[in-house]
Amino acid sequence: MSAVLDHHDDHAHDHPHGWRRWLYATNHKDIGTMYLWFSFAMFLVGGCNALLLRAELFQPGLQLVNPEFFNSLTTMHGLVMVFGAIMPAFVGFANWQIPLMIGASDMAFARMNNFSFWLLPPAASLLVLSYFVPGGAPAAGWTVYAPLSVQMGPGMDLGIFALHIMGASSIMGSINIVTTILNMRAPGMTLMKMPLFIWTWLITAYLLIAVMPVLAGAITMLLTDRHFGTNFFNAAGGGDPVMYQHIFWFFGHPEVYILILPAFGIVSEIIPTFSRKRLFGYSSMVYATASIAILSFVVWAHHMYTTGMPVTGQLFFMYATMLIAVPTGVKVFNWLATMWRGAMTFETPMLFAVGFIFVFTMGGLTGIVLSMAPLDIQLHDTYYVVAHFHYTMVAGSLFAIFAGTYYWLPKWTGHMYDEGMGKLHFWLTLIFFNLTFFPMHFLGLAGMPRRYADYPMQFADFNMVATVSAFGFGLSQLVFLAVIIKCIKGGAKAADKPWEGAHGLEWTLPSPAPYHTFETPPIVK
Ligand code: CU
Repeated sequence: MSAVLDHHDDHAHDHPHGWRRWLYATNHKDIGTMYLWFSFAMFLVGGCNALLLRAELFQPGLQLVNPEFFNSLTTMHGLVMVFGAIMPAFVGFANWQIPLMIGASDMAFARMNNFSFWLLPPAASLLVLSYFVPGGAPAAGWTVYAPLSVQMGPGMDLGIFALHIMGASSIMGSINIVTTILNMRAPGMTLMKMPLFIWTWLITAYLLIAVMPVLAGAITMLLTDRHFGTNFFNAAGGGDPVMYQHIFWFFGHPEVYILILPAFGIVSEIIPTFSRKRLFGYSSMVYATASIAILSFVVWAHHMYTTGMPVTGQLFFMYATMLIAVPTGVKVFNWLATMWRGAMTFETPMLFAVGFIFVFTMGGLTGIVLSMAPLDIQLHDTYYVVAHFHYTMVAGSLFAIFAGTYYWLPKWTGHMYDEGMGKLHFWLTLIFFNLTFFPMHFLGLAGMPRRYADYPMQFADFNMVATVSAFGFGLSQLVFLAVIIKCIKGGAKAADKPWEGAHGLEWTLPSPAPYHTFETPPIVK
């Protein structure tokens, strides 16, 4: 009896309850959960920015907000969505799934994992706080291009500080992920037997470690230009504002792959499960992911065709960029080949995964259009670009985040979610997404520039459609929130393998998973 009591006391000591459970968390599942909720909160903040700026663009001539504040809205929307919403969501997936899928007891550095997460709320607070300082929030675009970013008020300093903190968080998270994957796999799980989600995150983590310090360098130079008398980006002092763009995009282009590679991984888990077939072309998927990552370092100046670079430079960056279509095409064809003649069913995760392939591929195709220097010079800074990257980041990253959430929610909560509500969420999201962003292609082709608070009459109709649909898109996400809450609170008990998939690696643990992570190592054939 006393042994039982002692054991119980140990247990109570090991697992703090209430707020301590979260603040002191070293458990990868709790930390994963916090990342995912943090990300959801940031989606709401970034979404509010987006809806406010869409409201301003509802009709020509409206003046709901002043133009300077409008610039803050577009800037903060980008910063919050990229660094606060999409990246932490994928790190949340990494925390939950990597130890489970490779058979590790937890992440390699559990306390650093805690620190990585808890850096994010202060960083997000600094970003939001910047709205309330004189001069307002950063308003130089999410790229914070010099020289405008050098001249802005103190809100920019808060933004720079926030980016530094989020960068440190990302680097630590990535070191944790690389170390866990390379050192803590179950016996027998060689690199080429890892689930594809693990491969994509391993490659993503290397990208993050490589480029986050470059961003840190760029914004530190910005900071010293602003306050300490340096002239890195000041032409009058012998510097060069275009150099800022080079440094920023050397980070920025790999960054957009950081935002999509884990999405590829999630989709590569879901498509085989709901097709009841093994993933087609596993090793070509691994090599394609690695090729995309390597190529992402040599294409950055495709964002800079209008800066007056030599034609030879334009040609190099144009062809290098087009080359990325090859491994990306390999991935799309492999997903299609996996589905080919499979015994497919279309539960919500599969709907989002198939939706991802269709709509993300559209974003990839407009990317090829924009890679061509002569076309890009026409389309630069128009709504065509806005349409392009929202097809990659909303229909790409966000759809995969939804797909993965529905896919693993039974594992995470022990309950099945409401399938009807999940499907409703998918169709509303798909329809409103396309209604919001498809017209922007036409606006861009017709010459409407982005980042302006107003526009001439000729652009009125498509903008009205986009604004109404953006609100529909935003409201549809309440369905998602309702599904999650309902699933956490109850629902049918999830089976060990709720999807009856062909490869059950991520379902080798009993569902719901017991509190403190790892039970039995998965057996790898
Ligand atoms: Cu790029």
